Amino acid sequence: MMIQQINEAVQFIQQQYNKKPAAGIVLGSGLGSFTAEMTVEKEIPYSSIPHFPVSTVEGHSGKLIFGQLGGKTVVAMAGRFHYYEGYSVQEVVFPIRVMKFLGIETLLVSNAAGGTNTGFKVGDLMAIKDHISFFTPNPLVGKNEAIFGPRFPDMSEPYKKDLISKAKTIAAANAIDLKEGVYFGVTGPTFETRAEYKLIGLVGADAVGMSTVQEVIAAVHMGVPVFAMSVITDIGIREDENVITHEEVLQAAKEAEPKLTLIFKELVAQL
Ligand code: HPA
Repeated sequence: MMIQQINEAVQFIQQQYNKKPAAGIVLGSGLGSFTAEMTVEKEIPYSSIPHFPVSTVEGHSGKLIFGQLGGKTVVAMAGRFHYYEGYSVQEVVFPIRVMKFLGIETLLVSNAAGGTNTGFKVGDLMAIKDHISFFTPNPLVGKNEAIFGPRFPDMSEPYKKDLISKAKTIAAANAIDLKEGVYFGVTGPTFETRAEYKLIGLVGADAVGMSTVQEVIAAVHMGVPVFAMSVITDIGIREDENVITHEEVLQAAKEAEPKLTLIFKELVAQL
């Protein structure tokens, strides 16, 4: 049973670190050094935690990091699980459920994403206001575990408006141009074809990526408020040469990281 596995993971973690985190933070590709901003109190490798999947992708280090940020106790996931790595959707969202049972009251998510809004440029930050997920399996398929949440969760505001508004105020005060937009979830691991990028833009999405939606669905299911932000690491809708590489994605994420870090840090302080 999923809940038993979660309880075992939670117990294991609490034996090593017993403060209740106020917020959980998921760090996307190339965004791992964010944790340098934290006063780290405990690091727990995923590989040591019962039932935890193990991260494989380059740029993801694979551990839970506990500590203080913006005056709050937080837990950060350095490295997340992607469906394209071969994990089941239940495995992808397992850490989110564990963090909820550790006590988090807010989830902050970051990711690297391809821009499909013609007004975006590489390095832009986008607060996610909504998502479209037609091609990624829903993590709630299967028997509903009532302890997590309802069978048919409402998804009218998966990304909390008040958190977006706080983030915008923080961005403005620090001269950061924070865009806002719709994130389109795909499975990957291929980047999109030209025709796909175009289609995604046409249906009203501003960015596309291979993570986040399943984690957010699991959080919303459990009633955890979410704030999520994309770093635009490449522009998918160029007419000319359009080769996208993992290296350029990681590089762009790294360059935008200080802005993202600042917003997350200030937002946590205001929770
Ligand atoms: N497409 C999908 N996922 C991504 C992209 C992209 O262009 N960039 C970073 N992650």
